[in-house]
Amino acid sequence: MKKVLITGGAGYIGSHIAVELLDEDYEVVVLDNLYNSSKIALDRVEEITGKKLKFYEGDLLDKDLIKKILADEKIQVVIHCAALKAVGESVKKPLEYYSNNLTGTLQLLEAMREENVKNLIFSSSATVYGSPDQMPISEEFPKGQCTNPYGWSKSMMEQIMVDLQYSDPDWNIILLRYFNPIGAHKSGLIGEDPKGIPNNLVPYITQVAVGKLDYLKVYGDDYDTVDGTGVRDYIHVVDLAKGHVKAIAYIEKNPGLDIINLGTGRGYSVLEVLKSFEKAVGREIPYKIVERRPGDIATTYAKADKAKEVLGWQAELGIDEMSQDSWRWQKANPNGFEG
Ligand code: NAD
Ligand code: UFG
Repeated sequence: MKKVLITGGAGYIGSHIAVELLDEDYEVVVLDNLYNSSKIALDRVEEITGKKLKFYEGDLLDKDLIKKILADEKIQVVIHCAALKAVGESVKKPLEYYSNNLTGTLQLLEAMREENVKNLIFSSSATVYGSPDQMPISEEFPKGQCTNPYGWSKSMMEQIMVDLQYSDPDWNIILLRYFNPIGAHKSGLIGEDPKGIPNNLVPYITQVAVGKLDYLKVYGDDYDTVDGTGVRDYIHVVDLAKGHVKAIAYIEKNPGLDIINLGTGRGYSVLEVLKSFEKAVGREIPYKIVERRPGDIATTYAKADKAKEVLGWQAELGIDEMSQDSWRWQKANPNGFEG
């Protein structure tokens, strides 16, 4: 399977997946409406790899367009990254989130069925586990209660795919549950470029470091963790992207449905991440402890054994490389892709 469609391929994770696929001689087609991304990211992907990809600017909700792409490009496997993903915004705009993420996914799946393209790798999230009271989180844990419409939309999309594969075993589907992707490509040419004030820890830290924001707000230091701050399983986006290349190789030989965590298997606290960034930046980064953020949990990290066993994949890059690479990207592109 060498012809791959990446929905949302101009985004943060999709663009890194495109690089890894092109490096492994896959032919890459991207569908993105550029709602949360820039065409420049795709130009940079070509610059990094020295290879061309095919870009369709369009919407997942346009089923005829998806069918045309699948047929014209002779797509063999789809990596479905396109989604709206801002947790806080999803609480304010639930209908927009459900409509884009669920209806968009239904259009994609119908188009795939009609064009008989039945290999799918889905960008899911550890958020579908809810707040388990045991760590590490293995794939056998039941799905849990999500705390926001974004999380529920991921959980529901998974369920749709599980039901679809059950109804028609010709479908081969891997649900990849990402933990916390951070970092950027070593070149510093592509990386995370959030619109407005970042919600997530690492883009917030890098914007403080580059002088766009005054200080980091650390959301609570009274959790039951190593230093009281929240613990997460941060995974380098390049490692994460490589996991998708392995998933394509796997799906070819292992039909059916699989659920696989992509994490490192270890957690870092907010203050540990901050310390690692201070090393990368070479100076202190100002922060203040503030109230807990509603909906946050104390600790989450993956059991990463299944990915190693079935995909032959494990994360290789550590927290310091994640910090250095995020910082290289932010320093070289203080205003993201817009200059
Ligand atoms: P991103 O916003 O950078 O990329 C998503 C891309 O999808 C964007 O380029 C956006 O323009 C595009 N898109 C959205 N709706 C579309 C539509 N209707 N039609 C066409 N294109 C559309 O986000 P990301 O961080 O790269 O995330 C990629 C996927 O991984 C998402 O599904 C997200 O939910 C999932 N995920 C992300 C994280 C994370 O922390 N970044 C964690 C777990 C899961
Ligand atoms: N944090 C701060 N200050 C900030 C931002 C975050 O202290 O300005 C803390 C949070 O309280 C948490 C940790 O940093 O303890 C990580 O927070 P993020 O917002 O970076 O990530 P989350 O784990 O909350 O959520 C992320 C994605 C979700 C996804 C989830 C699980 O944003 O979409 O990982 O994959 F569902």
